[in-house]
Amino acid sequence: MAVEASKVPQITLNTGDKVPCIGMGTFGSDRFDAKQVSEAVAGGIRAGYRMFDCAACYGNEKEIGEVFQAAFDEGIVERKDLYIMTKVWNDMHREVEKSCRKSIADLRCDYIDLFYIHWPFPNYHAPHCDVDSRNPDSRPFSVKEFMDTYRQCEALVDKGLIRHIGISNMTIPKLNAVIGQFRIKPAACELELHPCFQQQEIFDYLRAHDIQPVGYMPIGSPQRPERDMEPEDIADMQVPEFAAIADKYGVHPAIIALKWAMQRGQIPIPFSIHNYEANLEAAVTEPLTEEEMNIIATLEKNNRLVKGQVFLWPGADDWHALWDEDGVIVDCTDA
Ligand SMILES: NC(=O)c1ccc[n+]([C@@H]2O[C@H](COP(=O)([O-])OP(=O)(O)OC[C@H]3O[C@@H](n4cnc5c(N)ncnc54)[C@H](OP(=O)(O)O)[C@@H]3O)[C@@H](O)[C@H]2O)c1
Repeated sequence: MAVEASKVPQITLNTGDKVPCIGMGTFGSDRFDAKQVSEAVAGGIRAGYRMFDCAACYGNEKEIGEVFQAAFDEGIVERKDLYIMTKVWNDMHREVEKSCRKSIADLRCDYIDLFYIHWPFPNYHAPHCDVDSRNPDSRPFSVKEFMDTYRQCEALVDKGLIRHIGISNMTIPKLNAVIGQFRIKPAACELELHPCFQQQEIFDYLRAHDIQPVGYMPIGSPQRPERDMEPEDIADMQVPEFAAIADKYGVHPAIIALKWAMQRGQIPIPFSIHNYEANLEAAVTEPLTEEEMNIIATLEKNNRLVKGQVFLWPGADDWHALWDEDGVIVDCTDA
């Protein structure tokens, strides 16, 4: 069932923009090709989605751009009706404008609404790589390097290529090191958020600084790439308390995860080939009760799914080094 886009509740960003409280993810997780993902985007626009989370490294911006173009040509939406987000990939931190211009051309969208720095360091991995893949050029976070990348984004705002800047995969220590240096404040931060990985501390930090949390993997990404699957990972949707709430409403637990996310205040960006209509409906149907919200708050299990092993630099102990868990930026020399 389509949802009238104007009925989807909105969130006001620190820029004054009003954006939908839910968007659609477009990462095919190395399992779904560009055609499948772009067909979901086409269906998503018809279903009432207006916010799309893209990225250069997802390898499908050209096909998604064809879908946007068709939607404009057919008069289904105008450019201004869509909120298009994309990201500069780690190997383009020294050429942000080039990356941005390519995304704009591929997505056929004239400008980007929210342009993210996908990861806060230039460490990249090849598409479809496995968990043991390492790039010898990878290095720890550097305030100077990050701010150089950020300054390039600020210049893109000045040039009208992007409207707003986003950051992603940050930690509180990294944020503390750069937060006083922005000329143009970031509007949003993308981070992993699902019922068993709530990241309360950074969530509160972002809200306190009026930076909108955008939650990726809101359903616990059951089909994430092989490299992000570890035996100890918890399947969020199968946690009994959670399944019990879903039973009460007679819906898939995914719908409860999305309701929880929206009511908590993050913008979830679920990916779906088969269930995107139901996911959007979650924004306009009966909300969870306070009691249910409180039960879900207790389901936190530190269940980080994107550990990021492939971004590790030579000499780093293990993936925990990426997340600054002791409150200092690991191996950073200029914080
Ligand atoms: N900034 C970053 O570094 C970063 C990292 C990861 C992801 N992201 C973004 O976040 C988006 C979402 O993350 P994700 O795709 O990994 O995970 P996700 O949205 O948590 O999970 C997607 C999976 O859930 C299933 N699903 C969705 N709705 C469902 C429903 N109502 N009932 C049953 N199953 C359902 C989908 O299967 P069906 O297709 O069968 O519905 C799909 O396999 C990505 O697409 C990407 O845009 C950003």
